Amino acid sequence: MRRVRRAVVFTGAGVSAESGIATFRDALSGLWARYDPASMATAEAFAAEPDLVWGWYQWRLRQVAEAQPNPAHRAIAALATRVEQLTVVTQNVDDLHERAGSRDVIHLHGSLSATRCFDCARPHPLSNDVLAEVVEGQRISPPQCGFCGGWIRPGVVWFGEMLPDGAFEQALDAAGKCDLLLAVGTSGQVYPAAHIPQHALASGAWLVHVNPDSIAPRAERERSLQGPAGHWLPQLLELIGGVDD
Ligand code: APR
Ligand code: ZN
Repeated sequence: MRRVRRAVVFTGAGVSAESGIATFRDALSGLWARYDPASMATAEAFAAEPDLVWGWYQWRLRQVAEAQPNPAHRAIAALATRVEQLTVVTQNVDDLHERAGSRDVIHLHGSLSATRCFDCARPHPLSNDVLAEVVEGQRISPPQCGFCGGWIRPGVVWFGEMLPDGAFEQALDAAGKCDLLLAVGTSGQVYPAAHIPQHALASGAWLVHVNPDSIAPRAERERSLQGPAGHWLPQLLELIGGVDD
């Protein structure tokens, strides 16, 4: 671990779990328990029931607005000072990595804050008034586009949609060049994102899983640290890199 020069941290919903943000696979609590994210997170669902999908988005945005980065996010941000090259690749749409200090985070599945028009596809950041209404849960319907009058949609990648331009290629390139990839808080069920850790391993890097679930290592350079990210990442921070300490 000391000799690691280039690291990739690949995160999923589990890295934000200790910040109070429900993971996808957990049963969603309260109002949204009856909705399956996969049926809500599609362009068809938004076209058919914009208010319902917008309501789910508002619920998610409120969760993120009330959340704080946890020790795992902070340790990942600090890791940048321990290695020559750190690339953070996340499947999450929250901004907790950035709020913990990570730079140039690659968001494979988009970002809650990158709203755009569903019809003309122009980027359309939410005004402060609308954002305040969203966070207070006062908005029923999505706001309308100032250019064409269409609905504003969340800037997240819905099932069946393409990943943001270049994001996957950039992540794959970093995975192919790193010495170590930490796969933190992901069930590894969704492709193409789930290719990233496998590509690092196939390219000769060490692959270390951090997850309370036991993930059986299948390769010589694969390890599994069972437990929460908030426990393991601060410990890994002390072990990785810093060889010129
Ligand atoms: N620390 C680390 N891992 C945790 C923690 C924790 N405190 N709590 C839960 N986990 C693990 C769970 O064991 C699970 O393996 O986090 C993982 C979360 O898995 P998912 O809910 O499947 O989330 P993720 O892997 O990010 O899903 C990928 O699927 O629904 C789509 O686009 C969505 O980006 C999402 C993608
Ligand atoms: Zn528009």
